[in-house]
Amino acid sequence: MSNEASTSGNETLTIRDNRTGHDYEIPITDGTIAAKDLGQIKAADDQPGIATYDPGFVNTASCRSAVTYIDGEKGILEYRGYPIEQLAEKSSFLEVAYLLIHGALPTKEEMDAWVHEITYHTFVHENVKSFMEGFRYDAHPMGMLMASVGALSTFYPDARNIGDPDNRHMQMVRMIAKMPTLGAWSYRHAQGKPFIYPDNDLGYTANFLSMLFKMSEKKFEADERLVKALDVLFILHADHEQNCSTNAVRSVGSSEVDPYSAVAAGVAALYGPLHGGANEAVLRMLRRIGSKSEIPAFIEGVKNGNEKLMGFGHRVYKNYDPRAKIIKKSAEDVFEVTGTNPLLDIAKELEKIALEDDYFVSRKLYPNVDFYSGLIYEAFEFPPEMFTVLFAIGRTPGWLAQWLELVQDKDQKIARPKQIYTGDRQLTFVPSSERWA
Ligand code: ACO
Repeated sequence: MSNEASTSGNETLTIRDNRTGHDYEIPITDGTIAAKDLGQIKAADDQPGIATYDPGFVNTASCRSAVTYIDGEKGILEYRGYPIEQLAEKSSFLEVAYLLIHGALPTKEEMDAWVHEITYHTFVHENVKSFMEGFRYDAHPMGMLMASVGALSTFYPDARNIGDPDNRHMQMVRMIAKMPTLGAWSYRHAQGKPFIYPDNDLGYTANFLSMLFKMSEKKFEADERLVKALDVLFILHADHEQNCSTNAVRSVGSSEVDPYSAVAAGVAALYGPLHGGANEAVLRMLRRIGSKSEIPAFIEGVKNGNEKLMGFGHRVYKNYDPRAKIIKKSAEDVFEVTGTNPLLDIAKELEKIALEDDYFVSRKLYPNVDFYSGLIYEAFEFPPEMFTVLFAIGRTPGWLAQWLELVQDKDQKIARPKQIYTGDRQLTFVPSSERWA
């Protein structure tokens, strides 16, 4: 079912400017008014028109998009119209990447070609290896990933030709293919372990695990259940419409820079603790609680405002985050292989108690994607610094789908918000020789 633009005769907004007594009728389309329509509302002809003030774009649509649909009240997340639950259960990360970028599911031939292309672009230029070796021994892997994705723009200068569809396709394939290589090498660098080259006999996620964990064995073949769990986590993180990092990709991409530079901006945004870091905070919280018997005291602390229940609540979801449900199930599958983590029992009990407590119910606070994901990553023995790198690998197809939509959208312009100037005006400059005399 498509979501057509809707505007009909009576879908207008009447605004009275009490400064002038003038009325304005502004069309409403898809529940929004065009900010430029407010520009006609002026106190006098030589005055600037009305603008909106919206730090953080809390109530401003920056684009029309057909990639991802979210209904936060109902807890719905769909990529290109397909519910996340079905994709997580029945699809694969590469198929979801194809869907996000192309807008439709692949035929058998299209899927085979896509997997082949991605698989054969997993290697990076040897010089990438040399510069990654140049980072400090304790470099944060996310900083290394950000720098190395940006550096790919120098290896593929043709990527600047963003008007050519074949060229765009090539760069998107390269980026999805090389992100796991860059992510795994960032991890290996911090561990002081040799970089492992891609193994093209393996699938996308199995190859990533091989580049992360292979030592002297001839071939590294991870347990299928672990491969599936990580693949599902990548699917769940693949897109989330206009979040901070996607907005960064679109904003930087609007200057018509190459896609590697635009995606590096997305990685940079995701590096920040307000975006990619809550799952680590959940682990710290569960460790601090320590045992099930301590949960009631902890909940009391939350209700008194002394604590925050990390991994609960979301700006958009006012219902169970659909990704959290799937992750909870994945956590159980992973612990079947790795042995259970006592923190999982604390997490499940904490969730149960919180969901029955009026404090959380009345505020519509439910588990979000981060409540269980840190536990899974820990079971893989990833250090917390790697959590955002995993997020970035999963989010890459989403960033690229949104970038592609941006460069093909005739309505889009270079991102350039207005400001409300609050500084001085018309001062008289006194040269330093006089000021300091
Ligand atoms: N624990 C306890 N109380 C909470 C929590 C929480 N995790 N989240 C919100 N509340 C309370 C607030 O104190 C507020 O109560 P009040 O009405 O009595 O003042 C009420 O619920 C509404 O919360 P807001 O802060 O208005 O919600 P907002 O949408 O601004 O914040 C956020 C959303 C930042 C995610 C918040 O819920 C939070 O801090 N959660 C914990 C951190 C977390 O898990 N972040 C990951 C989000 S998912 C992601 O980014 C990938």
